[in-house]
Amino acid sequence: MLRNIFDKGTDLNMGKPVVITFANQKGGVGKTTSAVNIAAAVGAMGYKVLLCDLDPQGNATSGVGVSKKALKYSAYDALTGACDPCLAVYTTSFKNLFILPSTIDLAGAEIELIEMEKREYAYKRIIEAVGEDFDFVFTDCPPSLGMLTVNALSAADGVVIPMQCEYFALEGLSQLMISIKKVKQLYNRDLTITGILITMYNGRLNLSAQVLEEIKKYYADKLFSTAVARNVKLTEAPSFGEPIYYYDKYSKGSLAYTEIAKELVDRVL
Ligand SMILES: Nc1ncnc2c1ncn2[C@@H]1O[C@H](COP(=O)(O)OP(=O)(O)O)[C@@H](O)[C@H]1O
Ligand SMILES: [Mg+2]
Repeated sequence: MLRNIFDKGTDLNMGKPVVITFANQKGGVGKTTSAVNIAAAVGAMGYKVLLCDLDPQGNATSGVGVSKKALKYSAYDALTGACDPCLAVYTTSFKNLFILPSTIDLAGAEIELIEMEKREYAYKRIIEAVGEDFDFVFTDCPPSLGMLTVNALSAADGVVIPMQCEYFALEGLSQLMISIKKVKQLYNRDLTITGILITMYNGRLNLSAQVLEEIKKYYADKLFSTAVARNVKLTEAPSFGEPIYYYDKYSKGSLAYTEIAKELVDRVL
């Protein structure tokens, strides 16, 4: 696989990418699905995109068709300083889309980072080293508020919060907002909430509609205007190692993520 040691894309960034982190301490809410599919859609729009997988499960990595067995270096090596970060950035088969992949090794980084100086900024240093080649960096986080997520937030300009309209969703959301506020105070004063993204939405369920109304009450200005409905194509695409834009461009899931990608770019550029 080729590395990204070639020409720049749009040159809009003037040497600094927009860095967006997808975070929610809850698992299964659509972080990875959103990070992969928005990254691919933004790449298809013509921006040069780096997708960074900071989840040891590596679902974003396999979701863009990268086989973990073939990797010489990964996010773990870049974070722990075992390799030059640019050696851990790989091309994908998709337009303008590059990946900093993760493997299960990354689970050890939570512990190894503790002993590091300025451990909250290990990921930010990677972006400083490789970011100038990109217009956007999208980071997929693990389902926790541990050191990897803190690193992803410390390096970000904005955070996108994917969430489902479920009974405990609001409780989780206020917890997450408190954590984001703490990271902002301690490590990253410029951090903003880019948006709250409703995933796997089913408007026919009364509960979902009620929870959505409740979210609107508190966060109307943060909600993305498009919600992602449940769509089976979105569950199929990762097993083929393809973002939805390439797996089934005109599926409902793809059309939704394309709209959201446009809205996100409008919000941050
Ligand atoms: N809009 C959707 N419609 C149907 N299935 C979805 C949708 N979004 C995500 N999924 C599926 O739900 C599961 C959890 O999503 P994922 O993105 O892996 O969540 P997280 O990264 O937050 O753990 C995955 O199996 C994924 O394919
Ligand atoms: Mg995930």
